[in-house]
Amino acid sequence: MESKAAELREKIEQFVGHAAGAAEKFRLQFISKKGEVAALFEELKKAPAEQKKQQGKILNELKQFAEARFAELLEKASTQEEEKTQLDLTLPTPQTLGNRHPVTLTRERITEVFARLGFNAEDGPEIDNDWNNFTALNFSENHPAREMQDTFFIEKNPDVLLRTHTSNVQIRLMNKQKPPIRSIMPGRVYRNETISARAHCFFHQTELLHIDKNVSFADLKQTIYHFAKEMFGAQTKIRLRPSYFPFTEPSAEIDVSCFICCSKGCHVCKHSGWVEIAGAGMVHPNVLRNCDIDPEQYTGFAGGMGIERIAMLRYGINDLRLFSENDVRFLKQFKEVI
Ligand code: DAH
Repeated sequence: MESKAAELREKIEQFVGHAAGAAEKFRLQFISKKGEVAALFEELKKAPAEQKKQQGKILNELKQFAEARFAELLEKASTQEEEKTQLDLTLPTPQTLGNRHPVTLTRERITEVFARLGFNAEDGPEIDNDWNNFTALNFSENHPAREMQDTFFIEKNPDVLLRTHTSNVQIRLMNKQKPPIRSIMPGRVYRNETISARAHCFFHQTELLHIDKNVSFADLKQTIYHFAKEMFGAQTKIRLRPSYFPFTEPSAEIDVSCFICCSKGCHVCKHSGWVEIAGAGMVHPNVLRNCDIDPEQYTGFAGGMGIERIAMLRYGINDLRLFSENDVRFLKQFKEVI
C-alpha cells in the first residue's frame, strides 16, 4: 500500500497540463469517485485491521495533496483565460470615440467667426507679471483688482501672478507687433473667487484687438454685430451700455438679444430680453503709449468675453462647475460642432 501511494503521489506531481481542460482531466483521473485515489481507499478496506490506521493516514495525506494540485491547476486555467481575453487582438476597435469639451467647441467656433473677419488667433502666458496684467493696461496703483483677494499672486516683488484676464496678451502683442493688428487671444484666466454655479477660480476668455489708422467705435459695433449674428443666429440684435474699464475709453458692456426666448423673456435673460456677452471699448491712449504705439497716429478697439458664458448660453448649461468636473455623463453630450 505504501509503495502504491508513493507511486501515485509521483504521478500526481508529474501531471502536466496548461490547457483549460487539464484540470478536469486531472479531476477525473485522480480525485473523482472513480479516480485512482478513491481506488486506493477501496483497497484500504481490505487491509489488515492493525495496518488500517497507519495506511489511512498515508492515504488522507495523498488525498489532500491531490486536491491541492487540483486547486493549482484550476487557478492556472482561470488566469490563462483572463490573459486570453486581454490579449484578443481580433476584437474590433472601440466604437465610442471621445469628443471635444464644450469650452473647446465654443472657442473654436469663436475663432472661426473672427477668422472670417480677418482676425488671427494669438496665444499668451497664463503666468505673467504686474506690468502686462495691470500697469500697462492703465490700472491705477490702488485698483482693487490688484488685491490678493481678487488675484492669485505667485510672488510679490517682483510680481508674478496668474493672469486675471486675457488682456495681458494685448500688451505682449502690441510690444512684438506694430499695427495693423487684428487678433483674438483666447485662453485660461484665474481669479481668487469662491467656487459656485456662477463663479469659478479659473475660466476662459477671449480678447479682441484691432489697431490701425482710423479705427473707430463704429468698427467695434460692426464687428460685434457680425459676430453676434454668426454666433447666435441671423436675427440677433446687439445693444451697448456705457461702462468703465481702465484700458478703454469710452467703454461699453455688450448685450445680445436673448436667442433662447427671442427676447420674449425667460429665466436666462432674467425676463429682460437681453444677455450680456462682452466688455469692450476704444483702446485707451495710455495703453497704446505703454506699448510704444503713437495714439495720434493709431486708434483701435478691444474687447473681452467669457467663453464659458457663451457656452452656457449656446448649450443651456446653468452651472459653471460642470465645465471642470470631468463628468463623462456631462461631457459626452457634446458630440457635434455647431
Ligand atoms: N478684461 C475684462 C475682464 O476681464 C474684459 C474686457 C473688457 C477686455 C473690455 C477688453 C475690453 O479688452 O476692452 O472683465
